[in-house]
Amino acid sequence: MTKELRANLNATGLFLQEVLLYPQQIGAVLPSSKHLASVMARWLPADPEAFVLELGPGTGAVTQAMLARGLREDRLIAIEMSARLAGLLRERFPRAQIITGNACHLDKLLRRHVRDVESVAAVISSLPLRVFTTEAAKSLAARIRTVLQPGGNWVQYSYHLGVRRHEATARFDLLATHVVWLNLPPARVNVYQKRAAH
Ligand SMILES: C[S@@+](CC[C@H](N)C(=O)[O-])C[C@H]1O[C@@H](n2cnc3c(N)ncnc32)[C@H](O)[C@@H]1O
Repeated sequence: MTKELRANLNATGLFLQEVLLYPQQIGAVLPSSKHLASVMARWLPADPEAFVLELGPGTGAVTQAMLARGLREDRLIAIEMSARLAGLLRERFPRAQIITGNACHLDKLLRRHVRDVESVAAVISSLPLRVFTTEAAKSLAARIRTVLQPGGNWVQYSYHLGVRRHEATARFDLLATHVVWLNLPPARVNVYQKRAAH
């Protein structure tokens, strides 16, 4: 068995344990497929120096795809609520800044844990937004807007395949949307953009 395969199996095992303990929080039955992760990673900023904020990275499937696409590990900040998954991410990505905490408080967490980063060029989120209350989702969206640079993208997937967008995203432009069938279950990736200031 290769080292990579063993690492993936361990990560999936830990993920499944967390699903059994905290099904609502995890909001999925399996980690994201390589296909879903690579569609998310397509939307990274072009600037290799830019900071990217990942929310709910889980086992790091999307993180891995972003690094494979050229994101510098030391430019990644991630917020994961599960302490065990955050521990796994620190082992997998030692140069990234992995914060254990609730993404709903992302502004406070960034102020407390990250020095010299006022804003990020993209937010890449695997958060199960549809299990959040409407109020929590709107508050999260407002915090994302505050931390995101003008013209920056918030990439969010959902297992809801319909085209109706979440009301919390109303203040963003919908830049692109794709259905990824090769994922369990299939997912829709929406790319929301914070309009650049004129
Ligand atoms: C759908 S899973 C992510 C799957 C991930 N893309 C992967 O491949 O492993 C959602 C993740 O969001 C995390 N999460 C849920 N609510 C959160 C919150 N409020 N703040 C931070 N992380 C949260 C869960 O612990 C879980 O790891």
